Amino acid sequence: MAAAFLSLALFALAAAASLAGADDPYRYYTWTVTYGPITPLGATHPPQQGILINGQFPGPRIDCVTNDNLLVTVVNLLDEPFLLTWNGIKQRKNSWQDGVAGTNCPIPPGANYTYKFQAKDQIGTFVYFPSLALHRAAGGFGALNVYQRPAIPVPYPPPAADFTLLVGDWYNSSSHAQLRRTLDSGAGSLPPPAALLINGAQRPSGSPFVGQPGKTYLFRVSNVGLRASVNVRVQGHALRLVEVEGTHPVQNVYASLDVHAGQSLAFLVTLNQPAMDYAVVASTRFTPQELTAVATLHYAGATAAAPGPLPAPPPAQAPASYVWSVNQARSFRWNLTASAARPNPQGSFHYGAIRRSRTILLASSAPVLAGRRRCAVNGVSFVVPDTPLKLADNYNIADVIEWDSVPLRPDGGAAPRAGTPVVRLDLHEFVEVVFQNTESEMQSWHLDGYDFWVVGYGNGQWTEMQRQTYNLVDAQARHTVQVYPNGWSAILVSLDNQGMWNLRSAIWDRQYLGQQLYLRVWTPEQSFSNEYSIPTNAILCGKAVGLPH
Ligand SMILES: *[C@@H]1O[C@H](CO)[C@@H](O)[C@H](O)[C@H]1NC(C)=O
Ligand SMILES: *[C@@H]1O[C@H](CO)[C@@H](O)[C@H](O)[C@H]1NC(C)=O
Ligand SMILES: *[C@@H]1O[C@H](CO)[C@@H](O)[C@H](O)[C@H]1NC(C)=O
Repeated sequence: MAAAFLSLALFALAAAASLAGADDPYRYYTWTVTYGPITPLGATHPPQQGILINGQFPGPRIDCVTNDNLLVTVVNLLDEPFLLTWNGIKQRKNSWQDGVAGTNCPIPPGANYTYKFQAKDQIGTFVYFPSLALHRAAGGFGALNVYQRPAIPVPYPPPAADFTLLVGDWYNSSSHAQLRRTLDSGAGSLPPPAALLINGAQRPSGSPFVGQPGKTYLFRVSNVGLRASVNVRVQGHALRLVEVEGTHPVQNVYASLDVHAGQSLAFLVTLNQPAMDYAVVASTRFTPQELTAVATLHYAGATAAAPGPLPAPPPAQAPASYVWSVNQARSFRWNLTASAARPNPQGSFHYGAIRRSRTILLASSAPVLAGRRRCAVNGVSFVVPDTPLKLADNYNIADVIEWDSVPLRPDGGAAPRAGTPVVRLDLHEFVEVVFQNTESEMQSWHLDGYDFWVVGYGNGQWTEMQRQTYNLVDAQARHTVQVYPNGWSAILVSLDNQGMWNLRSAIWDRQYLGQQLYLRVWTPEQSFSNEYSIPTNAILCGKAVGLPH
């Protein structure tokens, strides 16, 4: 009797520990990652060494439905360890699948790993990209679109079709390794970008975006570049914003939209103009030289291109450029009446009324350490450990994690240093994080595992007085927030997702040079309803080699 009960209980535990939602559909992908020559800078430029997935640059697009189980086998045929991360996919209870250096051992050359995860309760526009070693500078990224289940309405009429635009800056280099050497040498940051790309080309050929006159289309835009902010616009057409990183904003109409490094959004365009071809323009923001990429919105049956100049960018000169951008950012507001898969952690709808458990003030900097320029958060420059932090925590391996070793306020007195800090936070805390930018370049910050409310953007040094300016009613929820030069951005986040989560610069050279850290969201109560156990196929490396799964 007791034995039967025990085995039943074990069975229940095992079921809970495996992928939730066994009834949800499964989608299987096998992706082979290789180098291959690409020419995004045009045929006259020497071919560059790209990172291809199944021979493609950009990589294949995943189209899936909320709660689908995705099984992606990544076969690494590069000569370097490799990982993919799923940007904006929250990996609920499952930071094991996040695919960053602090959660996963890299896939060794010649080996493979099968990611297993659900786009649990999410709808929207996301991307995946390589998280290690500046691979992202050579490709390996692609779109990940999560569509709603038929039973869950989105707050706009179904578009006739949707178009995916991966926009991003691109660099003159023979390979990612060449750019990486520039950073490793400690000489400084990246050279200026050579081009801006839409879906891997400066002028995508043909008419990738074809629509019927009178119909409405959804444009999904993600900034997959290394650092440049991008503005997107469609000649002669208004853009109705309907999604920001998996949440539904108030549906304002814009002439153009800024998308900063690591961000995504989606807008509707109605083909209500004379039947012609119109330019879909992306251009860099806040760069010394404005780089432009142009694609075509083709009205089916049209034979001519719209006359006249391309739509003009927003003001390009500082400070007007920044004022324009921050005003637009402040106009993004959360649609409080829109339903979604589940836009808000349960119980936190009135986020402005929740008591904050603590405030974390993070200042970025670019100190010189041991003669090399690095990037740091509150004076600590992150060094990737040989043993992923998640494994070190799981197996109680000593001497990997430096618990709480980064000050939660800038410490002006301490000398900058290298380290591997993890901030310990309790499950269900409600935390205020302020990102302070003391430099004269744009910053962008991303948190894995979560959405957060962006309650304020401001100038200068943040002080507690600034809380009076917060939007505590309908701030936009998202996973990546820009921080303007010599300014701050403040977020509130409900820590409802247990795991080891990367908080990082989405400006990719800064991330590579150490502007990142990890948050461990945890409770002493061990339960599969809080967090899944280590996957049986997890790669073990560093000090975890040979330990039992
Ligand atoms: C993944 O690796 C395993 C173990 O080496 C191998 O048996 C399997 O065929 C590989 N799968 C793919 C798709 O290459
Ligand atoms: C990139 O290389 C091309 C030559 O192929 C050159 O004309 C251009 O100025 C370079 N751009 C940058 C930003 O270095
Ligand atoms: C908010 O969403 C609702 C649908 O739930 C929609 O009817 C309404 O138009 C949206 N409001 C705005 C201002 O976008």
